[in-house]
Amino acid sequence: MPDTGVLLAGIPLVSPVVLLSGCVGFCEDLARLDGFDFSPIGAVFLKGTTLEPRRGNPPPRVVETHGGMLNAIGLQNPGARHVVHTILPAIRHFPTRFFANIAGSTVEEYGEVARIFDDSPIDGIEINISCPNVKEGGAAFGSDPKIAARVVETVKRATTKPVITKLSPNVTDITLLARAVIEAGTDAISAINTLMGMAIHLEQRRPVLGNVQGGLSGPAIKPVALLHVWRIHQVAAPRGIPIIGQGGIVTARDAMEFVLAGATAIGLGTALFRNPMGAGEVLDGMVTWLQHYGAGSFNEVRGTLKINKP
Ligand SMILES: Cc1cc2nc3c(=O)[nH]c(=O)nc-3n(C[C@H](O)[C@H](O)[C@H](O)COP(=O)(O)O)c2cc1C
Repeated sequence: MPDTGVLLAGIPLVSPVVLLSGCVGFCEDLARLDGFDFSPIGAVFLKGTTLEPRRGNPPPRVVETHGGMLNAIGLQNPGARHVVHTILPAIRHFPTRFFANIAGSTVEEYGEVARIFDDSPIDGIEINISCPNVKEGGAAFGSDPKIAARVVETVKRATTKPVITKLSPNVTDITLLARAVIEAGTDAISAINTLMGMAIHLEQRRPVLGNVQGGLSGPAIKPVALLHVWRIHQVAAPRGIPIIGQGGIVTARDAMEFVLAGATAIGLGTALFRNPMGAGEVLDGMVTWLQHYGAGSFNEVRGTLKINKP
């Protein structure tokens, strides 16, 4: 049997399959599902958490699109202190690892949220930098390499836990962002977050989402995600920084494409809305792929995409 273990930012995962932020809440529903099996899941990324509780955006907050969905949840969450004091103590699914996903309106807020999680049993902290920078014009932190780096430096100073930075695809050159956050000290990179989009209700002549715009996810974004992961890999691999590949993964074949492009772990997000138990099937298929090609581990095939020389 191939070895399914991978090392992510210094943390050993039993499997490269992880569940993505915002797609499993704080795990309350999964834990209630009869027969839900955590054993194929390397890690779970909890719902985006801010310093104070947030009520989120007006409805409708999600809409199905061709090959995917748009969401504009607006970071509804009960606030970092509630997550640490009330939700985390109820999560016990070792050896699956748990990561917080943090967001903020200012650079300082990211630091404060990270400090609260630092004093908790969480395994690591993922930074969602696709949020508007309220103090400095409202553009996303993740759209400017200098500001993105400041967020990472601030979070690194606030915690001794591993830090993963989640990059936005809504930029011209994602490798500039990858370089900036690596230099700022991130221990890993998640790629990609959702692509901004909108849906229109033709008869009502209104945007479908209460927030007008939302994030596109699901199979429709997979080719975009693959290209971003492969480009980030060129920058990250020489510096030993692992990537959590994500964006439209549904099957084991999708997942292995991300591994060949350079991903150390692969995430299931939108796919979980159709099949919340999909992780086991994906891991089994990935292992079958390794066996078929005679590989003993995911490390052996990571980033081994063959590129035609012109
Ligand atoms: C309903 C929904 C809520 C999400 N909430 C968050 C969030 O709170 N923080 C975050 O970093 N990403 C969030 N995401 C993005 C996902 O974690 C993931 O990066 C993205 O959807 C791409 O993967 P997928 O195509 O497999 O869903 C959310 C996605 C969806 C669909």
